[in-house]
Amino acid sequence: MVGGAEKWVMMVTAQTPTNIAVIKYWGKRDESLILPVNDSISVTLDPDHLCTTTTVAVSPSFDRDRMWLNGKEISLSGGRYQNCLREIRSRASDVEDEENGIKIPKKDWEKLHLHIASYNNFPTAAGLASSAAGFACLVFSLAKLMNVKEDQSKLSAIARQGSGSACRSLYGGFVKWIKGRDEDGRDSLAVQLADEKHWDDLLIIIAVVSSRQKETSSTTGMCETVETSLLLKHRAKEIVPKRILQMEEAIKNRDFTSFAQLACADSNQFHAVCLDTSPPIFYMNDTSHRIISIAEKWNRSEGTPQVAYTFDAGPNAVLIARDRKAATLLLQRLLFYFPPSSATDLDSYVLGDKSILKDAGIEGIIDVEGLPPPPEIKDSIPTQKYKGDVSYFICTRPGRGPVLLSDKSQALLNPQDGLPK
Ligand code: DP6
Repeated sequence: MVGGAEKWVMMVTAQTPTNIAVIKYWGKRDESLILPVNDSISVTLDPDHLCTTTTVAVSPSFDRDRMWLNGKEISLSGGRYQNCLREIRSRASDVEDEENGIKIPKKDWEKLHLHIASYNNFPTAAGLASSAAGFACLVFSLAKLMNVKEDQSKLSAIARQGSGSACRSLYGGFVKWIKGRDEDGRDSLAVQLADEKHWDDLLIIIAVVSSRQKETSSTTGMCETVETSLLLKHRAKEIVPKRILQMEEAIKNRDFTSFAQLACADSNQFHAVCLDTSPPIFYMNDTSHRIISIAEKWNRSEGTPQVAYTFDAGPNAVLIARDRKAATLLLQRLLFYFPPSSATDLDSYVLGDKSILKDAGIEGIIDVEGLPPPPEIKDSIPTQKYKGDVSYFICTRPGRGPVLLSDKSQALLNPQDGLPK
């Protein structure tokens, strides 16, 4: 290793998006390699609103691997971190930083230690796939630091070993995780179906639903489902393979009607499989069910779907609107049924892309109580409202894949000592 007085710190910062599955991954055939029982398809979410930023640093002065998540040091001893670190180190190449006179030969990566700092631009506790963006960003940034020459798909197979859904965050747009056949998992990886520009009419509104309940983790939940649910076997063998082909076709043709029908049916079936688990797992709550009813009622009254809904392992709703007009009408409906609790103003209740608020003509209005009821409600039925049942909304859209951040000021670690800023 060459470099003055062994004091140098070399680092890389990257940003990686989260993703939402529209054909769900649920159930593993191999727990430690994280190999799924079926293919899945996701939409990558715009990193401007939901992403992880990670800085990885290497220095001969570091005495062990360390990681900080949202400013707090966390342990790297877990098998998932260890698997990702081992796999990525074994693929490292020679690295040369001519400007600073630093040379790291390939063989030195096994002995050099790393510092990793990661930050989510959304609350980790909100249950919005933070592990997917987190592991994808860890693997992507380390691959850049260590000059790993493998393509994005091969990197996705490493991120998969951190968290299954993470492999789909290595690409923007629409992504398929192919379950693969090999026992060692090398062919269980993500491929991009279409980039984010392919279908840029779509807009996404996430309802972060208030919940006091501690949910079963995806990892534990899917393990119990594999052990006890006969419905999962039927789903993985008979239903998903056909749905994957139909969903690929719907995405290719920008066929929103099919896209929405498939996404809603698959979300509902995933939750049915959870209910078919012993003991049953409940991820959706009354608010989630209400949001489904609102979407279904509206779609039916319009004759063609305006919105697709999908729910992961928690009560939050991810609503995908056909276009801007539909997103506007959707937001009006959501604010009608779920007004903010009185202490909150709209600006902190609707986050992300606020232009949808503007289009809906409700920007700056503090009191949304006066919104008229949507026309699909029959006049005779008194409408109930559910103030406070949604914590906040995030307006976003399909987005790009991982990027390197070259602006040094965005690094999360100090360039002098490699410790968090
Ligand atoms: C419901 O990827 O979080 O979000 O592989 O055990 O880390 P592990 O699970 P994880 O599971 C995600 C499940 C899901 C559906 C999906 O994203 O496809």
